[in-house]
Amino acid sequence: MITDNSSDIVLESINDKVEFEITLEDYQTLPEVLMQLLEHAKPYQYLQSAPNELKHVRQLLKTVTERFCGPNDDGIAFQLHKSLNTIYDYQINSFANSSQYDPILMEIMLELESAWISFEKSRTPKEEMPTDAREFTKWLKSYALKHPSSQHDIFKYLADECTQEEMTYFFSQEVTIDPRFDDLIALMQVGIDKPEVKMELASNFWDEMGNGKPDEVHTKLFSNLYDEIDVFKDGEGFLDVLDRASWQALACGNTLLYSVLHRKHLNIGLGALGTVEIISPYRFSHLTRGFKRLGVSDKASVYHQTHIAIDAIHGNGWLNNAIKPIVAETPQAREEIFFGSMLRMNTSADYCEHIEKHFSNNQD
Ligand SMILES: [Fe+2]
Ligand SMILES: [Fe+2]
Repeated sequence: MITDNSSDIVLESINDKVEFEITLEDYQTLPEVLMQLLEHAKPYQYLQSAPNELKHVRQLLKTVTERFCGPNDDGIAFQLHKSLNTIYDYQINSFANSSQYDPILMEIMLELESAWISFEKSRTPKEEMPTDAREFTKWLKSYALKHPSSQHDIFKYLADECTQEEMTYFFSQEVTIDPRFDDLIALMQVGIDKPEVKMELASNFWDEMGNGKPDEVHTKLFSNLYDEIDVFKDGEGFLDVLDRASWQALACGNTLLYSVLHRKHLNIGLGALGTVEIISPYRFSHLTRGFKRLGVSDKASVYHQTHIAIDAIHGNGWLNNAIKPIVAETPQAREEIFFGSMLRMNTSADYCEHIEKHFSNNQD
């Protein structure tokens, strides 16, 4: 005889069946699989009881790492940088459901980094670098400023010609670095034992914190711009905008996160973050010219306006008070510092090319 209870039991078993039928094997890209994995509190433990799913994850990972060839394959580049950025986000944001150090997440992260960094090393030029620490800092600064992406044409276009929609699109891609720069500097400081280096980074960090004034905290100033030019839609925050980032934008963010999340990458970080500071005054002065032309308010422009002068100070501070003493003590550090600088410049070059292509495709 059928009772009321039995219909509940039938329904439950249907639900179980539906849940049972959706497995990681139903997702065909690494970023999708990763999002599903992160739903589990213990992804590695979960996969131990699902060997076919573990095999599928590792197969996707192998495909991405073997096929990754930078800008020559947009689909694979997106899979690599999106997956890496998702794992990195778990290292710095407090929303994590899974453990940030879960073994399978660490395995995926290290494999992706290895494929990406060996590509980046292959396109880093071999250069004769000055051995004297002061000469090296001068050489590094002028090398970064002469790099094709440093004063890329898109900045002149944004200053003098772009439409409001193009400016909004550009800032939807600028979401991978500036909104988390305070955390990046904070992470850079960990483990530095030279007082003058730590002091330079600490003073840079305090600038990020608006020198103690809540309304002048840099991430707050940056979000004022996003509100005004409608990058944020319907109450969005930076993490929502991050979902619309191209792989080139994600690679720029990954460059800095890769540099600061591993203690052994300290010198790479000094080169990468220092270069961000060195190249931003030119870029930001062009962006503020664009803001003025498009009628963006002072309140929304102040982040970029302020950084034209501040980052010139930060750039020289990094060179003189952080990079110089480290190179004076350990000349071998030059290789990693230069690599960090080129990592920033080459990923930025891909990024500028992407923005240029996006604008020209939209005009066709
Ligand atoms: Fe800042
Ligand atoms: Fe700065």
